[in-house]
Amino acid sequence: MIATRNIEKSFNGEAVLKGIDLEIFDGEFVSIMGKSGSGKSTLISIIGGFLKPDSGVVELDGQDLHALREKELSQLRCTSLGFVFQAFKLIPTLNVIDNIMLPLTLSHMASEEAYSYALSIARELGIDTMLKKFPNQLSGGQCQRVAIARALSYKPKIIILDEPTGALDTAMEKTVMELLARINKEQGTTVIQVTHSERVAAYGTRIIRIKDGIIEQ
Ligand SMILES: Nc1ncnc2c1ncn2[C@@H]1O[C@H](COP(=O)(O)OP(=O)(O)OP(=O)(O)O)[C@@H](O)[C@H]1O
Ligand SMILES: [Mg+2]
Repeated sequence: MIATRNIEKSFNGEAVLKGIDLEIFDGEFVSIMGKSGSGKSTLISIIGGFLKPDSGVVELDGQDLHALREKELSQLRCTSLGFVFQAFKLIPTLNVIDNIMLPLTLSHMASEEAYSYALSIARELGIDTMLKKFPNQLSGGQCQRVAIARALSYKPKIIILDEPTGALDTAMEKTVMELLARINKEQGTTVIQVTHSERVAAYGTRIIRIKDGIIEQ
């Protein structure tokens, strides 16, 4: 379970998050919505351990996430916590398959079985024909799918995605959302996504709305 207790975060004296209390249970599929600049990316960066809150606590299965050492946090990110950034953050010097396999390689989990699972995800996302290409040879939507495949490749317990369909056409949006819904259902993966689209949000089982720095009740 993920819990946030009274999370506050300001940038340059301006309060963005003003006390966020959240509980997300294992196996949930949660959609976070709110207008541009409302703090959605800030909140999930804090939940993902990439950004420290000014005050408040993030607990992952009762453990204070931000009290972990950098090494433990990296380990967690390569094993149980998948994250897809709004800006994808692919490694420019690695080709598609090496980008997808990176978490597996880093955590020494790259086996034949892991490879074939990663390949099946790539196939499902329609990027299996470009495994040897580099990120600068791909379109925005293709990069987005590589980032999603990378985050799913090691079957994390939790996957957090920042606008996962922002660069995709309607058909690909459906493919990605159905894949996430299936993984949520079949593997029990907790899915937390940020989206501006009510249609995309509806794939989740709960919608959380941020407004004026707090969760709208
Ligand atoms: N590193 C930073 N330094 C300064 N200000 C920041 C930083 N990150 C975010 N902000 C500010 O915090 C506010 C919330 O940003 P955030 O990226 O969380 O919004 P968002 O809800 O994800 O918006 P969008 O829907 O456009 O992605 C914005 O006003 C933004 O300018
Ligand atoms: Mg954002």
